[in-house]
Amino acid sequence: MAFFTQQVIRGFSSSAVRNVVIKNVMIIGGGQMGAGIAQVAAATGHSVTLVDMSEDILKKSVKGIEGSLKRVVKKKFADKPEAGEEFVQKVLQKVSISTDVEATAQGSDLVLEAIIENLKIKQDLFGRLDKRAPAHTIFASNTSSLPITDIASSTSRLDRFGGLHFFNPVPMMKLVEVIGTSATSQDTFDSLLNFTKALGKTPVSCKDTPGFIVNRLLVPYMLEALRLHEKGHGSKEDIDIAMKLGAGYPMGPFELCDYVGLDTIKFIIDGWCALDPGNPLFAPSEMLNKLVAEGKFGKKNGEGFYKYK
Ligand code: 3HC
Repeated sequence: MAFFTQQVIRGFSSSAVRNVVIKNVMIIGGGQMGAGIAQVAAATGHSVTLVDMSEDILKKSVKGIEGSLKRVVKKKFADKPEAGEEFVQKVLQKVSISTDVEATAQGSDLVLEAIIENLKIKQDLFGRLDKRAPAHTIFASNTSSLPITDIASSTSRLDRFGGLHFFNPVPMMKLVEVIGTSATSQDTFDSLLNFTKALGKTPVSCKDTPGFIVNRLLVPYMLEALRLHEKGHGSKEDIDIAMKLGAGYPMGPFELCDYVGLDTIKFIIDGWCALDPGNPLFAPSEMLNKLVAEGKFGKKNGEGFYKYK
């Protein structure tokens, strides 16, 4: 009975290909998140193709992966630097790069998108790939806040579509949110769960609701810190120190905003505010809007709430 209920809830499709073991992974988007996911997937033995619009972007991504791997091995192989270097090279060999999104999809068990947070662009991308990818290929999005159901709607593989939401920095953060829509098949959901475990991550199951679990709690918390500061109830430095030393958070909310990217936070909160304008948790912040308008996006471009070298 439980099995039957699950299949109904997740949208059973008799034509669905079952139990895909994900070995060949295509990651679209060579930014911080895409490169981080590529790194972790390659380090755990998956064949990864990282796809973006230009060779230059991809070369930068691979450089970033190499740098991050070196940070990892510095600790993991502290007494054996040669074995560490060997590990770095072995992982890098598992990462290919390509600018041909459609050709790469043809050889992939999983197509995971980590591109700009624009629904139309994501829908167009998946709609195109749907025609080229094999039947068994699972599609997934790493969106921070857009509904997976809406992204999947441009494809005919609703049963083989889900969400895999990673956290920055991907090599360090142990969690992955696995999102099933009402149409995601149980087999697809299980394949995604198993994939995250094969990456050495801990998955949690999420519904396709705004912000899933982490961002739904984290983003309003960060915005509340901004409001506290805007009202003059604490300097950003004091609020950061307070949350680190008083609540045990690794970063204070202003540091975390800069780390995640102010443009990303603004995108998320604006989207939620449009959906539920009266909700005080989703109220916009003037300070955030001003910084983003000035092009101060945080750590990634040198200045946000703080300045970076
Ligand atoms: N790659 C590899 N190793 C890394 C790394 C990376 N990108 N970042 C940190 N490390 C490792 C390294 O071993 C590093 O040592 P090193 O500096 O000698 O190389 C070690 O971690 C310690 O790093 P730091 O000295 O820079 O500082 P911390 O000890 O504070 O750790 C941190 C850094 C793991 C980022 C920690 O501050 C942290 O957990 N911060 C909170 C991050 C967080 O909340 N992320 C979630 C954001 S929300 C999100 O991503 C969702 C999205 O949808 C918005």
